[in-house]
Amino acid sequence: MKKIALVTGITGQDGAYLSKLLLEKDYDVYGIMRRTINRSFENLETLGIYDQVNFIDGDLTDECSLINAIKTLRPHEVYNLAAQSFVGVSWDVPILTAEVNAIGTLKLLNTIRYIHPTARFYQASTSEMFGNSHENGLQTEETPFHPRSPYAIAKLYAHWITINHRESFGMYAVSGILFNHESPLRGREFVTRKITEGVARIKLGIGTEIRLGNLDAKRDWGFAGDYVEAMWRMLQQAEPEDFLISTGETHTVREFLDLAFAHVGIPDWNPYVKVDPQFMRPADVFALHGHSGKAKEKLGWEPKVHFEELVKMMVDADMKRLAKKM
Ligand code: NAP
Ligand code: GDD
Repeated sequence: MKKIALVTGITGQDGAYLSKLLLEKDYDVYGIMRRTINRSFENLETLGIYDQVNFIDGDLTDECSLINAIKTLRPHEVYNLAAQSFVGVSWDVPILTAEVNAIGTLKLLNTIRYIHPTARFYQASTSEMFGNSHENGLQTEETPFHPRSPYAIAKLYAHWITINHRESFGMYAVSGILFNHESPLRGREFVTRKITEGVARIKLGIGTEIRLGNLDAKRDWGFAGDYVEAMWRMLQQAEPEDFLISTGETHTVREFLDLAFAHVGIPDWNPYVKVDPQFMRPADVFALHGHSGKAKEKLGWEPKVHFEELVKMMVDADMKRLAKKM
């Protein structure tokens, strides 16, 4: 019999890559899907799997819909990827962010606890929970948390309530502390995609500039396709444990700009990039740099795609997509 996986956030970047991986591993894949006027299946269509996954109407804030999904499917594995995932907007919609990211996670865990406690549960935790906290420049599973945005604070609640369900009720519930991961499916407001799309527009003559905020921020950027493999491996262990997932390399936004512009033959990006205060955050996280030694040792997981290749992949995808429309 095929295993059943339930993915919240199936229409997002990670939801699409994870669904593809699970289908390749012969799971029946179901996704909880919010009702909106124009439902976005773009990511699933881009990966060519839209007609291979199944949808259940629901919302992380609506416990009835979660009960319906868990009761109907009785899934083997539940991946909780749904979130208000944009840090920048979380100061503008802090209550929504808390209701979805924090309380939504509790509702889902609680539903599993009472209806189908043998389901294995993955929580999408984040390196944002560290804030500016580090140990000699690096973050590990042991680094203290100091969240600096409503997004990260809500995610930290979800992280601890996941651990609490494991410790209190013996559930197989784990949290993956994932550092930034990107791809051609990345949402357009995130800095990497904003840059690669902007670069492609400038190169094709349909854009003139890119307006950005803090160019000195450093991130440990990996490829989403690699990171979903780590999520799946976390649910296949003998014992439930939390893991940090990163590349171990950190780069500034400036370095991302260097590579993206150079890839289309523009050596100096200064004339095209404007710093705009509207994209500065009330409290930014200055540098993220993860050490994923535990994941390497226990999950046998390592990133395959490195920074330069990631930047080129994203620029090429945006060039191709936009050129087709011209
Ligand atoms: P994403 O592309 O923004 O996708 C978010 C998904 O959540 C979308 O499918 C969205 O559905 C869904 N969603 C939002 N609110 C919902 C609600 N109330 N009920 C049900 N679904 C809802 O995010 P991502 O980059 O794939 O990230 C996946 C998860 O990992 C998120 O929880 C994020 O916070 C976390 N994370 C991401 C990274 C990263 O670098 N990508 C790193 C660490 C952790 P719609 O299509 O309806 O909007
Ligand atoms: N979005 C954005 N837009 N960020 C900018 C800009 C801009 O115009 N200019 C500079 N930045 C800086 C931000 O201030 C931040 O320091 C960095 O670029 C990365 O911003 P994002 O790409 O928005 O990602 P993030 O690191 O805030 O959050 C992402 O990664 C987290 C994991 O660390 C999201 O995917 C989160 O959901 C995820 O948890």
